[in-house]
Amino acid sequence: MISRLPAPRTQDPTTAPALRWGIMGPGWIAERFVSSLHKHTNQQVTAVGSRSAGRADDFARRMGVPTAHSGYDALLSDPAVEIVYVSTPHPQHHRCALDAIAAGKHVLIEKPMGVNARQAREIVAAAHHAGVFAGEAMWTRFLPKFDVILQIVDDGMLGTVRAVAADHGEYFTTDHRIYDPALAGGPLLDLGTYPVAFARWFLGDVSTVSAIGQPANHELNGQISAVLGHVGGGQSVLNTTILANTPTTAFVAGENGYLEVPGPFYQPGPFRVVPRDGEPLEHTEETAAHADGLHFSAVDAARRIADGAIDSDIHPSADVIATLDIMDRVRAQIGIDFAGD
Ligand SMILES: NC(=O)c1ccc[n+]([C@@H]2O[C@H](COP(=O)([O-])OP(=O)(O)OC[C@H]3O[C@@H](n4cnc5c(N)ncnc54)[C@H](OP(=O)(O)O)[C@@H]3O)[C@@H](O)[C@H]2O)c1
Repeated sequence: MISRLPAPRTQDPTTAPALRWGIMGPGWIAERFVSSLHKHTNQQVTAVGSRSAGRADDFARRMGVPTAHSGYDALLSDPAVEIVYVSTPHPQHHRCALDAIAAGKHVLIEKPMGVNARQAREIVAAAHHAGVFAGEAMWTRFLPKFDVILQIVDDGMLGTVRAVAADHGEYFTTDHRIYDPALAGGPLLDLGTYPVAFARWFLGDVSTVSAIGQPANHELNGQISAVLGHVGGGQSVLNTTILANTPTTAFVAGENGYLEVPGPFYQPGPFRVVPRDGEPLEHTEETAAHADGLHFSAVDAARRIADGAIDSDIHPSADVIATLDIMDRVRAQIGIDFAGD
């Protein structure tokens, strides 16, 4: 019988050793990442690099970053930068991360680490060889809410997990980069990575993949639904689309109860546990957006690097690669190719 929910074990983000960060690719997510670091941590954002001197200057001025570099090479030559946050579009992650590693920098790479599992493997191998940290900024996994959810499932409060469902759909207009085939557009890498990762966290590796997709236009996938069979038993039902807003909810169902996460399931916010016998239990937490949540993966990297580690123990590279492996299999069934495959 479930009587109360565990507390998050997440440490105070301001107690992490401060690293000097360089931002590579000052776009939408980079702005929120820097806001989150400035608001919630003692991390130092030292420099920003853009392909355009004007965009670097503009970002530095608006976000309070001391140094603006024209070009990514200049950012990587900056001895003050210890770790590079790679926030370029997905197909650029691989080159940017390898260049940063070759320059002796640690890297935290926006999700997905690469467009496919091979790219992620190569990044991880290069970091290992160079003795620097390489992590994926899959922010959801680092949120205090997910520490509570994982404790609930790992401690067996739901019993054996049998079924998982997760959905992430968002309507985009055709001028967004997500519509650009050259930038590995479509829903899978931007949005679908959350449902796929979520299913793996609770049911582990995948034995069977059954996926269908529909196009957004003549050159781009628009939506995917997939059913995964998991090696240890259990199955998951996943959905992702750029053609409509969806509830973005998720559940984990076990023999003794289910856990229900309202949308957006991948952001800070509440959830509830409904035991098979007994009253529902609520995890109360304000729903918050990126600028109040992206910092958790950064402080994990800072703590790990201070310990001399080259991988995250919360979101290890093995999980990053396994999730991309599943997405590769989903695409193979539908016939989706990406630039960089
Ligand atoms: N964690 C999350 O919740 C979250 C949310 C959104 C996005 N993301 C991830 O973050 C990454 C960037 O997404 P975003 O929405 O921030 O994209 P964005 O606004 O388009 O920014 C990407 C930046 O990358 C640089 N860039 C380098 N090569 C480029 C190219 N060939 N085409 C376009 N831009 C290029 C650009 O900066 P300069 O040209 O100035 O150098 C641009 O500002 C994606 O991989 C995405 O999956 C994560």
